[in-house]
This record gives sequence, C-alpha cells and structure tokens, in this order.
Amino acid sequence: MIETNALADVRATITENRRISSDITIITLECPEIAIAAKPGNFVNVKVSNTTQPLLRRPFSIHNVRDNSIDIMVKSVGCGTAIFCDSAEGTPMMVLGPLGNSFNTSSRNFDTALLLSGGIGTAPMYFLEQTLAHEEKKVINLVGGRTEADLIAPGLTNVQFATDDGSAGFRGNVVALLESVLPSIDRKGGVKVFACGPNPMLKALAGCCRKHHLPCELSLESVMGCGIGICYGCSVEINDPDGGIRSILLCREGPVIDAELFVL
Ligand SMILES: Cc1cc2nc3c(=O)[nH]c(=O)nc-3n(C[C@H](O)[C@H](O)[C@H](O)COP(=O)(O)OP(=O)(O)OC[C@H]3O[C@@H](n4cnc5c(N)ncnc54)[C@H](O)[C@@H]3O)c2cc1C
Ligand code: FES
Repeated sequence: MIETNALADVRATITENRRISSDITIITLECPEIAIAAKPGNFVNVKVSNTTQPLLRRPFSIHNVRDNSIDIMVKSVGCGTAIFCDSAEGTPMMVLGPLGNSFNTSSRNFDTALLLSGGIGTAPMYFLEQTLAHEEKKVINLVGGRTEADLIAPGLTNVQFATDDGSAGFRGNVVALLESVLPSIDRKGGVKVFACGPNPMLKALAGCCRKHHLPCELSLESVMGCGIGICYGCSVEINDPDGGIRSILLCREGPVIDAELFVL
C-alpha cells in the first residue's frame, strides 16, 4: 500500500544554498510542519519568486529531512529552477507539502532494496536510503547518466554507476546495469526495486522487473500546476488492475506507482 500525508502551506526560509555542480544546487528550507510529516517519495510545490514570473509553483522531491528543515536538490532547466537555484540564504518562499504519496519501505517481503535513478531522479534517493537503512534493509544504489558529468549521488552509499558513453562505471544504461548485477544479488530474503528518473528509463525498468518477477515502485514526473488535484494538469494513464487503462492525477495518486501499473 502506497501511503499519503497531511499537508501545510508555509512561509519557509532558505537557510542554506549549496551549488554541487554547474547546474545542480541543494537548497535547505526551514519548514518544521513539512519536515515532521515528510516521507520518502513526497514532494513540495514551491513558489520560487514573489513576482508573477513564474506564476505557478514548481514541484520538487524532498531530498533530505534534517531537524526542522528539508533539503531540495534542484537542477536548473528553465526560468523557475534558475531563480530557485540563485535564491540567497534568508530568502522566504511559500512551500506547500508534503504532497503526493510515498514509497512503501516497511514491507517485510524484502530485505534488500535496489534504488535506481537517472539524472535529477536521484533527488529523492537520499531520503529513501536513510529511511530504508533505519528499517534495517540492505541498500544498493544504481545511478545512471549520459556521461560522467551527469552523475550525481550526494550522500548515497554503496553506489554503482552507469554511463551511456562508458566514461564512468558500467557502459550502458542503468537498467542494463541492473540486469548485469542481478545474478550476483542474494534474493532469498526478498528484493524490491525503487526508481526515479526519465520516463524511457522507467519504462525499460518496468519491463525488466516484470520479466524478473521483482516488485518495484516508480516515481513518475509530469508537468504540475497546483499539486493538489485542482488543475488536472498532471493526468497520466496507468493500467487499471480491473482491466484496461485509466487516468490518474499524479499529484494525488502519485508520484509513486507500482511498476505493474506502468503502461508499457
Ligand atoms: C513530482 C515531481 C518531483 C520533481 N522533483 C524534482 C527535484 O527534486 N529536482 C528537480 O530539479 N526537479 C524536479 N522536478 C522537475 C521540476 O519540477 C521541473 O524541472 C521544474 O518545474 C521546471 O521549472 P522551470 O520553470 O525551471 O522550467 P520551464 O522553463 O517551465 O521548463 C523547462 C522544462 O521543464 C519542464 N517543466 C516545466 N514545468 C514543469 C512542472 N511543473 N513539472 C514538471 N516539469 C516541468 C518543461 O516541460 C520543460 O521541459 C520534479 C517534478 C515533479 C512532477
Ligand atoms: S497538479 Fe494540478 S491536478 Fe495535479
């Protein structure tokens, strides 16, 4: 069962801004109401500017929770994320969260967790790893990127890398890396896969997990306006367990879905 949370809309203050690469910044926001309720896989909707540019809030995964604060790992890809990455310590920002459902980490059906991520999809993995470790699960991280410069894994342990061009780690995509490491993984206590990344990666992974009978949860992305089920901007199609295909609002019934529901 994938879980959901209560939420708060708070005026949070940026207490730290750390650029970790040319386009990735980790931003710490002090917001105790959200920090206390956050679960791995949840996201927040941030009003990154107090002007109308951009008008809509932007969704970001919760990367880490520390005391009264949350960390957000932001990749600068456009107007909103550029403003967010450049925001100075002390800047106040409206933050709505925690939003969406969360990864199910507590099942007794597995003792080993494989965390697959690609690009900025690595953002929710640190919080997820911390939670799984607290529940005494063994964690293996598989992180992919097009080239060495794209690889990001701040704070993650037990990491194996894959690059499309072979400039670091395994040559190939992260799903091919999973296929290559699976035979060496002890599956007696149960293995579960958790993933976040671009849609083509998630599609390949969903197919791979079905083939190997591996339980798997995927965190999907879509364009989001409101984050709370009002604008209908985040509709995605999933397999209906009762047959056929149905639409869900990813902000409410996601972003985490069972890989069995991913439409291949
Ligand atoms: C649940 C969820 C969690 C996310 N977590 C993170 C995270 O932890 N770190 C991170 O850096 N990014 C994350 N994203 C993506 C992030 O929301 C977008 O990169 C951001 O909204 C782009 O805003 P922009 O104004 O900079 O880009 P724009 O200038 O508006 O557009 C640039 C690109 O971003 C895409 N985009 C624009 N708005 C959105 C939107 N609201 N949602 C998704 N894509 C959008 C556009 O299609 C375009 O390709 C997440 C998205 C979702 C849905
Ligand atoms: S983001 Fe508005 S309905 Fe989901």
